[in-house]
Amino acid sequence: MENALQGKRILLGITGGIAAYKSILLLRLLVQAGADVKVVMTPAARQFVSPLVLATLSKQPVLVELAEGDTWANHVMLGRWAHLMLIAPATCNTMAKMAHGICDNLFMAVQLSATCPVMLAPAMDEDMWKHPATRRNIQTLAGYGYQVLPVATGALASGLHGEGRLLEPAAIFDAVQSFFSHSQRLKGKKAVVTAGPTYEPLDPVRFIGNHSTGLMGIEIANALAMAGADVTLVSGPTHLQALPAVKTIPVQTATQMLAAVQEVFAETDIAVMAAAVADYRPAVVADQKIKKANDELSITLVKNPDILAYCGAAKASHQLVVGFALETNNELLHAQEKLRRKNADLIVLNSPNKVGSGFGSATNEVTIITADSVTEWPMASKHEVACKLVNLVADKLERLQF
Ligand code: C5P
Repeated sequence: MENALQGKRILLGITGGIAAYKSILLLRLLVQAGADVKVVMTPAARQFVSPLVLATLSKQPVLVELAEGDTWANHVMLGRWAHLMLIAPATCNTMAKMAHGICDNLFMAVQLSATCPVMLAPAMDEDMWKHPATRRNIQTLAGYGYQVLPVATGALASGLHGEGRLLEPAAIFDAVQSFFSHSQRLKGKKAVVTAGPTYEPLDPVRFIGNHSTGLMGIEIANALAMAGADVTLVSGPTHLQALPAVKTIPVQTATQMLAAVQEVFAETDIAVMAAAVADYRPAVVADQKIKKANDELSITLVKNPDILAYCGAAKASHQLVVGFALETNNELLHAQEKLRRKNADLIVLNSPNKVGSGFGSATNEVTIITADSVTEWPMASKHEVACKLVNLVADKLERLQF
């Protein structure tokens, strides 16, 4: 993956937001990795970051105006020159203009005439990020085939805390690297991914659930989409969102999750079952809230369908099925047994005992188990684990088909 950017031509679009200072570091990372980067910025972005710095780091003039003196910037050729247009930060205003094809400065003209893939990293205040207008604009941009990266959560320029921060330069750089390294490896392939917990209702207000956040599965769905696959994510309740290019089907229970997977499984090439599905559900769901009465209350549970086992049993020879295992004892033996019993091609073993792994953690240390191999992967962010897993899946799929 180290040289994925060598010689790649990247048009770095910078728009006017406080987060624009991070684009200096991003530019440095891209240049250091061997990319040929030209910077195009909106007039407003000049207030946040100096063109002199950007021109020095990129070793190219920075483009801002459509015409300067008697020189006209050829926006059409810029969009054709680039292998990728990367917009970071993408402000709310610029995204709104992009969604509607407004062309009132050089940056807008370049992106409107760009024939290369476009990736954007949004940055704005949480309320703007969550506004229905922004949500709709992002859907529109995703519909144009643009890759919209997620935002981070944390301190915002407003002084508030929440969603809307620009991803850190290293995370945007990773996304660019994976774009070039397994760019479109899975084009034409279909995938289904399950993620998150399931909520099994006891009555109208209570449920049996677990602490899964859905992050690992969502990262996998995103990485599959970045590799060009057509991805359906069947997600239990979570506040996290996948990339707009991922078709998300929200569900609550294991039964609903199975039904959603069954709808699409026959047409998929890859199934990754990363959800933490409840093994049992209450046999009876009370119509009304269960009243406090006796000192003890017994609830009868019945077994839930096993979605991974369904995929393993139904899979054809061209389909690849990946499961997860979360074990607290005899980890390897149990995971290998799971691989056989559920007829999966690959099991990703998580160990909740390891610091920095499992539910709620941003990192994961996993072991990859196949019928004939056991490979330990070092601790890495869930994003990195997802990208590596998708590369492995693409390798295996290629082998299945030849
Ligand atoms: O059997 P166990 O729950 O440990 O297996 C974990 C794997 O099986 C995960 O991939 C999980 O998503 C999947 N699973 C499932 N449906 C269930 C239980 C687990 O798909 N009912």
